[in-house]
Amino acid sequence: LRTLDLGRDAVVVTHPCLLEMHGRSLCAGLRKNGFSVKVMTMPEGERSKSSQQVFRLINELVAYDIKKKPFIVAFGGGVVGDLAGFVAAVYKRGIPYIQVPTTFLAQIDSAIGGKVAVDLPAGKNLVGAFYQPRLVFSDVGLLSTLGRRQIKNGLAEAIKYGIICDPLLFNYIEQNAKSLLAADPKVLREVVFHCSRIKARIVMNDEKETRGMRTILNFGHTIGHAIEAANRFRYYHGEAVALGMRVATEMSCKLKLISAQDAARIQKALSTLQLPERFDKIVVRKILQAMRHDKKFQGKKNRFVLVTGIGSVKVVEDVPPRTIQAALRAFQPKR
Ligand SMILES: NC(=O)c1ccc[n+]([C@@H]2O[C@H](COP(=O)([O-])OP(=O)(O)OC[C@H]3O[C@@H](n4cnc5c(N)ncnc54)[C@H](O)[C@@H]3O)[C@@H](O)[C@H]2O)c1
Ligand SMILES: [Zn+2]
Repeated sequence: LRTLDLGRDAVVVTHPCLLEMHGRSLCAGLRKNGFSVKVMTMPEGERSKSSQQVFRLINELVAYDIKKKPFIVAFGGGVVGDLAGFVAAVYKRGIPYIQVPTTFLAQIDSAIGGKVAVDLPAGKNLVGAFYQPRLVFSDVGLLSTLGRRQIKNGLAEAIKYGIICDPLLFNYIEQNAKSLLAADPKVLREVVFHCSRIKARIVMNDEKETRGMRTILNFGHTIGHAIEAANRFRYYHGEAVALGMRVATEMSCKLKLISAQDAARIQKALSTLQLPERFDKIVVRKILQAMRHDKKFQGKKNRFVLVTGIGSVKVVEDVPPRTIQAALRAFQPKR
């Protein structure tokens, strides 16, 4: 951190429970290296990604920021990362920040790429910016306190990277599913390393999502977001995305873009990772309705990232509604 010329005053933004679990060593390490440390906490949960929290943190920052040169340390999962990153982006038109992600999902996805945002009552991530952290520091040791469901939540995004562009990563996850589910730090580190590299590479080539390359990261997300919109409280993001990937794979199979064999391998890998296999009492109609409000399902011209083999995807427009419906029905709850 000293070599990055960030300033001397670290402002750690986190949740009280994380401070309790892992915060002391972080703060001690910072102090030992000559930084002053101020901690600002906020409640857990998506509700903290709000304009109220933004201005509360900023007001706390202003009061503290006298003869200081603060930089922000976002210490938490995606919620902390998105909120603290957004505060860093707008406070005094931008101060430096670093990401120290503490969830598996944040380490492989949300901390990398510079998308920072908060929610409005009208929808998620409606106020945001592209603002890159000066450093992303992922320590898989932090994941030792995560519950199994949170590990699976990250595994859905991890296997997504394999499916969209890295067959070797897909094999690795497939073969090490058991150790991954048991949160073995050795295999987690491998996966975090490879996924981070993939995300960083995609973002470097298409930082602001203007060249179409970042789009492939949305594999499984069109349906996934619709599932979240239809039943936000039941599913974690990764679980909804896993179902979204199942539907997208089924659509790809129906459109003969992928062999039945490869499609079956993807479905099986998702099951091996203990990700959901069927919609939970959500009616297809509700999902189709919700999909109309998704920005990736633009106007009449719908757009999906579909899979053409393990490690390759393509963007397909105008998928016939019948194909979408049939693919969705394949994962309806059994009567
Ligand atoms: N910016 C992006 O590119 C991007 C990408 C994907 C998701 N996101 C956002 O990320 C958010 C979801 O992130 P998340 O899944 O990390 O959820 P989260 O930040 O809410 O964390 C989940 C829970 O885990 C707890 N936790 C965090 N680290 C822990 C640890 N080491 N041990 C024990 N408990 C721990 C948290 O306190 C929280 O209660 C959403 O708001 C989503 O919009 C952003
Ligand atoms: Zn995602």
